[in-house]
Amino acid sequence: MIATTPPGQARWSSRAAFVLAATGSAVGLGNLWRFPTEAGMNGGGAFVFFYILFVALIAAPLLLSETLIGRHGQRSTIASAAYLARQSGASPAWSALAIVGLIANTLILTFYGVVAGWVLYFVYTSGADLLGAIVGGQPLAGAYATESVDHIRTLMPNLFANPVLLVGLQFLFMAATTLIVARGVKGGIEAAAVWLMPAFFILLLAITVYAAITGDFGAALTFLFTPDFERALQPGVLSAALGQAFFSLSLGGGAMIAYGAYASRDTNLGSTSGIIAFADSGVAIIAGLAIFPIVFSVGLEPNAGPTLMFQTLPAAFHAMPGGALVGFLFFVLAFFAALTSSVSLLEISVAWVTEKFRMSRFNAAMLMGILVFLIGLLSALSFNLLADQRPIPFVPGFENANWFDAIDGMTSRLFLPLSGLITAIFIGWFADRKLVNAETGLSGPVLVMWRFLIAWVCPLAVAAILVIGLFPGLLG
Ligand code: PFF
Repeated sequence: MIATTPPGQARWSSRAAFVLAATGSAVGLGNLWRFPTEAGMNGGGAFVFFYILFVALIAAPLLLSETLIGRHGQRSTIASAAYLARQSGASPAWSALAIVGLIANTLILTFYGVVAGWVLYFVYTSGADLLGAIVGGQPLAGAYATESVDHIRTLMPNLFANPVLLVGLQFLFMAATTLIVARGVKGGIEAAAVWLMPAFFILLLAITVYAAITGDFGAALTFLFTPDFERALQPGVLSAALGQAFFSLSLGGGAMIAYGAYASRDTNLGSTSGIIAFADSGVAIIAGLAIFPIVFSVGLEPNAGPTLMFQTLPAAFHAMPGGALVGFLFFVLAFFAALTSSVSLLEISVAWVTEKFRMSRFNAAMLMGILVFLIGLLSALSFNLLADQRPIPFVPGFENANWFDAIDGMTSRLFLPLSGLITAIFIGWFADRKLVNAETGLSGPVLVMWRFLIAWVCPLAVAAILVIGLFPGLLG
């Protein structure tokens, strides 16, 4: 057979595919929506400080561990972990890390689809608004220019008051995710990752500059970067910061194991993991710097919760020249950012079901997509019909949590770190040293450092935070 592309180019394309797919998975609603929400609810600076520390010392080393398990195994997440264990003469039971992860990711997608549905709502309303502006001969008007700021703030409550619409939007997003996964993630998502993610990044930067100039940037900087360490030791802040580090980098659920399998042999997993971790936290901080200046200038409370992003940015688009266009573009690109993450959430279980039950990819995707949608109804209805239900009042810190908060909190604060803990112990102590070291692409002091982080710092720190999270009384 005659090769149609030179080998060098083919290799370049697959290396880029891995970096882009992994970054596409990492950058999503976790950065735009969840990071500001969590930072706002956990006191700002202390949360951000520990979040950055945990990304550097725990999440980045784990990202490398997950991608190397995937590239070595070239199978579904559970099979890849079991394969490396067997090759290392260790028990295949280590694949438990991927089982916990599979459950976590499936549950995460149940509420992720709900929030992505909110994004779709703003795609729709801002699109209709833009159309109105163009028809009215004012294509560069601010968003919702004919409405008052008070009206813009009522968009979210209005949406929450309409369960049918909420569920319909969630359904649309889950249908898009399911169809892409049914056709195979690799082909479906590359184009979005190559073109839309960079466009999104540039737009976000521009919005941040605007927010910095027109909003209360000083108050935002103080809030985000002045750590109150006493606050950090209150129950919940540490586990929130750790959970956010895992969630934002798509760790613990196996997404990075699955995407590691795309990486070509000559990709340096060590340096690539560093770049992805840096880029992902950078986007989160930039999103925070876009949102908090507006929070303070329009007089919102930082701890407004999950609606924070949706109440601040539309207000900024309202005041911005050309805001109708910018707002619409922002929500469209946010939708694609969510989609490149949600496919990685669904892919894990679909790959496993396909392998385990010899089901076609299409059927497996339909089965899991429908299951996730149905469980997601609990989260979608947490803001109206089921608002009074408290599913896990016996878990410390979750006494007042509705379904949405319970599923979000339990997965990110418990399941993901638990899976990460098992991964760190496995890679640090039980997996074949030579084999693992060779996969990392690291050498010299950096390799020694990584080994120290993964064998000692990750297990001890994650275990400590898990225990503190479960028994908050320990901190007094
Ligand atoms: N990292 C994604 C985000 O920040 O939006 C969410 C996510 C994707 C979490 C994949 C976990 C995962 F496996």
